[in-house]
Amino acid sequence: MTTRYYTSVDDLLINLDQAIRTLFGQPATTGRPNPATAAPPAELPLEEQRLAARLMRVNHAGEVCAQALYQGQALTARLTTVRDRMERATVEENDHLAWCEARLQELDSQPSVLNPLFYAGAFTVGALAGVAGDRWSLGFVAETEHQVVEHLNAHLERLPSADQPSRAILEQMKEDEARHAANAMAAGGGRLPLPVRVLMKGVSKVMTETTYWV
Ligand SMILES: [Fe+2]
Ligand SMILES: [Fe+2]
Repeated sequence: MTTRYYTSVDDLLINLDQAIRTLFGQPATTGRPNPATAAPPAELPLEEQRLAARLMRVNHAGEVCAQALYQGQALTARLTTVRDRMERATVEENDHLAWCEARLQELDSQPSVLNPLFYAGAFTVGALAGVAGDRWSLGFVAETEHQVVEHLNAHLERLPSADQPSRAILEQMKEDEARHAANAMAAGGGRLPLPVRVLMKGVSKVMTETTYWV
């Protein structure tokens, strides 16, 4: 068997391809069924449908950022095992992305126009975390996933109670994100300093508050 070595140009093209698939195409998923299909269909009044669409647009944008963070880290992470772990989590994030996008269509809405901007920002942050070393990189993943779980809890409270399909998606995402966080810590992630955690919360607030509207 021959081993394939990638040049920097290969890496660049692979990452560009993944970015385009994440933003405009259909990236590879694990093939798990969409949890929404097992939920009873929701007939929502217009106001509730609009609210659900806004919240799911934020969640979709969050998954775009998750993709970008993982891709950025995979590019610069040092240990092969860390890279492999991140690439597996990336595929699960693609499930989330696909489920949120499908739900957005059902709610007669569309992804945020700001997604390319947030992808670029999150990719850069992910690559920098990877450069900082595997301990910090894994700690960064764990902290991100913890914050996402908190955010999903808040959205589960805000979603209209009749929107069972969206709730089913967010519940499964929450379970996956908590596992991603636990895996990252188990693989050697370090706890990030408080100012970094506060900064991360501030940045994600900008994302959630803008993509709610556009
Ligand atoms: Fe996710
Ligand atoms: Fe995750």
